Amino acid sequence: MTMNKQWIYASKPNAQVSPTNFSLQEAAMPQPKEGEVLVRTTLLSLDPASRAWMIGPTYRPMLNPGEVMAGWGIGEVVVSNARNFEPGDLVSGDYGWQQYAALPARTLTKHDKRHKPEHILGALGITGLTAYFGLLEVGRPRPGETVLVSGAAGAVGTIAGQIAKLMGCRVVGTTSSADKCKWLVSELGFDAAVDYKSGNLHKAIKEACPNGVDVYFDNTGGEVLAAALSRMNVWGRVACCGAISNYDTATPTPGPAGVPGLLVTKRIRMEGFIVSDFYNRKREADTALAKWVTEGKIKAAVDVVEGFDKMPSALAGMFAGQNRGKLMVRV
Ligand SMILES: NC(=O)c1ccc[n+]([C@@H]2O[C@H](COP(=O)([O-])OP(=O)(O)OC[C@H]3O[C@@H](n4cnc5c(N)ncnc54)[C@H](OP(=O)(O)O)[C@@H]3O)[C@@H](O)[C@H]2O)c1
Repeated sequence: MTMNKQWIYASKPNAQVSPTNFSLQEAAMPQPKEGEVLVRTTLLSLDPASRAWMIGPTYRPMLNPGEVMAGWGIGEVVVSNARNFEPGDLVSGDYGWQQYAALPARTLTKHDKRHKPEHILGALGITGLTAYFGLLEVGRPRPGETVLVSGAAGAVGTIAGQIAKLMGCRVVGTTSSADKCKWLVSELGFDAAVDYKSGNLHKAIKEACPNGVDVYFDNTGGEVLAAALSRMNVWGRVACCGAISNYDTATPTPGPAGVPGLLVTKRIRMEGFIVSDFYNRKREADTALAKWVTEGKIKAAVDVVEGFDKMPSALAGMFAGQNRGKLMVRV
C-alpha cells in the first residue's frame, strides 16, 4: 500500500450535513517522524460533535473546508519511531477520516487486546466515560429515583440508562420510533420509553414518569429538554451532556421555556459537563465499565457500518436516527 485514502471536509453544510459536504482523495502514505507512530485505521467513530466542529470552536478549533475530516479511531501500529510502541499494538487516537495516520505517540492510547475494539471505541471509551461521569457525578441518582434519558437509543444514552438501572433507579428513555422504544425496554432493560416524535410529548413523559423526574440526562436539548423540565421534581438534577437537536440545522431552537423560572421554584440544578473534566478519575470509571461489560451487566450496543466509503452517509444517517448504540465504520 503506497497511497492513503482520506475523506476531506469539503464544504460547510447549509442546513443538514450530507455526503456532498465531503470529498474522497488519495494522498501519499504518511511517514512517521521521530517520536511518531504510523497507524492503520480499523474502526472510525461517528460522533454528533463532528457536526458541532463545523459550526465553530468547541473543545477543539473549528474545522475548515479542505482539512481531513476529524474523528476518533482505533487501529494497529504499522511502524513505530517511538519508545513503548511496537508494530501490532492496538491504539486509539485522533486519527481523522483516513486509512493511515502518522501521529505523535504521546497522543495515542495503547489498549489491552482482550477487549473488543468496538467496545474500546464505545462503552469502554469516551462514550462509556461520558455516561458514567455525567450520570453519577452530575446527575447523582439515588436508588428508587426516576431517571429520564434523552437520545436513549444512542451511544451515550444506552450506557447512561443501563448504569441508572444498576443504581436501582426507574429508567425512562426517549427516542424517535416505536421500534427503538421497544428495543430499549426489551433488550436494554429500560422501564419505559417514549417516542418523542409521536405527538404529545409532555403527556407521554408524564405517563411514563408518574412520580416525576429526579434526574434528566440530556443528550438532545430542544423539545425533549423543555418537556423534561416541566416534569422535574423539586431538587431535581439535569445533566447537560449535549444538544444534538441543535447541531444539524440552520435554525437552532431558542432555549426552553422555564429557565430560569422552573429552576428557581423547583430548586433544580442544571449543569453541563465535558467528559475530560473527570479524567483524573478515569481509572476508576475504566475499571467499573470493563467489569459491567465483561459480566454482562451492561450491553455494549454497537452499530457497525462496513466500508470507509460509507463515512459521510453514516454521519448523515446518525442525524436521521438510523443508529442503535455506538455508531462506527469499519475501514
Ligand atoms: N459532554 C460530553 O463530554 C460529551 C461526550 C460525548 C457525547 N456528548 C453528547 O452526547 C450526545 C449523544 O452522543 P452520542 O455519541 O451518544 O451519539 P448518539 O446518541 O448515538 O447520536 C445519534 C442519535 O441522536 C438522536 N438525534 C439525532 N438528531 C436528533 C434531533 N434532532 N433531536 C433529538 N435526537 C436526535 C438520534 O436518535 P433518535 O432516534 O433517538 O432521534 C440518533 O440516533 C450528543 O449530544 C453529544 O454531543 C457529550
